[in-house]
Amino acid sequence: MRIEVLDGDSAWPLAEPLDREVYPPEVMATLPWRDVVWAHADRRVLVRESGRVLCHAGLFFRDGLVDGRKVRICGVGGVMTAADARRRGHASAAMKRAAQVMREEGVDFGLLFCEEHNVGFYGTLGWLAFPGKVRCTQPGGPMVFDIIPAMILPLEAAPRGGVIDLCGLPW
Ligand SMILES: CC(C)(COP(=O)(O)OP(=O)(O)OC[C@H]1O[C@@H](n2cnc3c(N)ncnc32)[C@H](O)[C@@H]1OP(=O)(O)O)[C@@H](O)C(=O)NCCC(=O)NCCS
Repeated sequence: MRIEVLDGDSAWPLAEPLDREVYPPEVMATLPWRDVVWAHADRRVLVRESGRVLCHAGLFFRDGLVDGRKVRICGVGGVMTAADARRRGHASAAMKRAAQVMREEGVDFGLLFCEEHNVGFYGTLGWLAFPGKVRCTQPGGPMVFDIIPAMILPLEAAPRGGVIDLCGLPW
C-alpha cells in the first residue's frame, strides 16, 4: 500500500475512475447533496495498491472567516474507498496523512461535511461535530450549508460555534 499527496488537477484522472465507481448516476440521484456545486481539490491523498487507486481524499486550502476573523482552513472532501477494499483502514490512513499535511501547512483547522452515518468514523480520527453555521457560495449566490453536518479537526484553532464562512464554493 502506498499513500501519496499529489497536485489536485493533475491527479484527478487517477481519482476519477474511483469516483465513478463509488458514485454512479443511480447512487448520485439519491444523495441529498447531488445538486451542490463543489470546489476542485488543491491536492489529493491517494492510497494505491499494485497501481490501483483504492482510496481518495481531496484537500482544499482556503482563506475563510470565523465570526469575521481571518482563518486558514483545510477542507477535506471526496473521501471514498473502493467497495471491495473497505474496512481495511485505507480511509483512516488517508485521513491521518491529510491531518499531517494540515499540520505541516500550519492551517488553523480542518473542516469536512459528511453524512450522519459517517460522523462516528471521523470522530474516531479526532474530528468534532461543528454546532455553528457554515456559509459558502454557490453559482446563485451565498448560502448556509446545512444539507449534511459539518465537522472540524482542531489544530491551531478550534471553533466550537458561531459562523464559519468558507468564502467560496464548498467541498
Ligand atoms: C466511509 C468510507 C470512506 C470509509 O472507508 P474505509 O477505507 O472502509 O475506512 P476504514 O477502513 O479506515 O474504516 C472504516 C471502518 O472500518 C473499520 N476498520 C478499519 N480497518 C479494519 C480492519 N482491518 N478490520 C475490520 N474493520 C476495520 C474502522 O474501525 C471503521 O469502523 P467504523 O465505521 O465503525 O468507524 C467508505 O465506506 C466509503 O467510501 N463510503 C462511500 C463514500 C462515502 O460515504 N464517503 C464519505 C463521504 S463523507
